[in-house]
Formats: sequence, C-alpha cells, structure tokens
Amino acid sequence: MVYTLDEFAADCRTALSEDEGPAGRQKVRDHLCRLLMEDAFIDAHCGPDVEPGTSLLYEDDELGFQIVAHIMGNAYDGGPHDHGASWAIYGQAVGYTDMTEWRRLDNGSEEGVAKIEKASEYRLERGDAGIFDDFKIHSISYPSGARFIRVTGVDLSTIARARFDAEKNSI
Ligand SMILES: [Fe+2]
Repeated sequence: MVYTLDEFAADCRTALSEDEGPAGRQKVRDHLCRLLMEDAFIDAHCGPDVEPGTSLLYEDDELGFQIVAHIMGNAYDGGPHDHGASWAIYGQAVGYTDMTEWRRLDNGSEEGVAKIEKASEYRLERGDAGIFDDFKIHSISYPSGARFIRVTGVDLSTIARARFDAEKNSI
C-alpha cells in the first residue's frame, strides 16, 4: 500500500502527541524510513525535476514540528553544529549523506570555548534516518544531487543554534 506525505504527517502528529520524547521521535524516524522508500513521494518531492533549495512540506500548527525537503545542487562538507533546543531527524531520499557525531568534552563554562571530539561516523543511504536530540552536535557532508528530508521539533530559524570549530576549540 502506498504511504503518502499526508499520512506521514498524521503519523508524526500522533506519535509526538503521545510522547514528545525519545519514544515519539523513534516512531517518527520509523515512519520517515518508510516514506523514503515510496517512489511516488520521492518523485514528487525529491525527484530530478525538483529545483535545488529547501521546501517546507508540512508544518504542524499545534505541535510546531516541520517536515522540510532539502534538495542539494552542489556537494557540501560542513562543520560541526547543533540545532539548539530542538531535535532533528535526517532521512536520506536520494544519494547519501556522511554523518559525523561529536561529543563535547568541556562543561561550557568558558565563553566562546568548546572542546569537541569525533564520537562516530556513518553513512545514511536511501531509507536510512538518524535522530539528533536537542543540543546534539553533528556535521554532514554529501555529494552533489543528494536529497534528504529533515523533520525538526520546531522551525529552526526561530531558535539559537551553535557552530563549533574542532581545531580552534571554539563555539
Ligand atoms: Fe544539522
């Protein structure tokens, strides 16, 4: 049976209404993995005719979570960052994304200073999704043409997020 964006949004709503914590996020991730294997969804929202950029596929008026398609034109190799006080789930639609998770070693007491080290590295391919909880630090890189769906707890443009430099030990 075909699984649609509308059904996915409704399933996210149900899961997060029941539990906004780790259990709800895990359910959202599982539903996202299913959606990513739907060719009709991929063709409509992540296909070769979709212009590079980001597009908001769904925003929940009540709970505030968002489903956004990220259509990448160029290859990218980004630095470590967090998503502030929001969780984020990255699910691969086309191509792949190499993920690096970082752990913070200092206690944040010194202004502008953050010591981080690599915790794990893995590749997301179509149908894979990774959960990044609030203030979790990660970095991503992908080849040109990669496309992914990101579900976030809130509109990330409305909250403070941090960027890190692992060589300069700065935040
Ligand atoms: Fe991120």
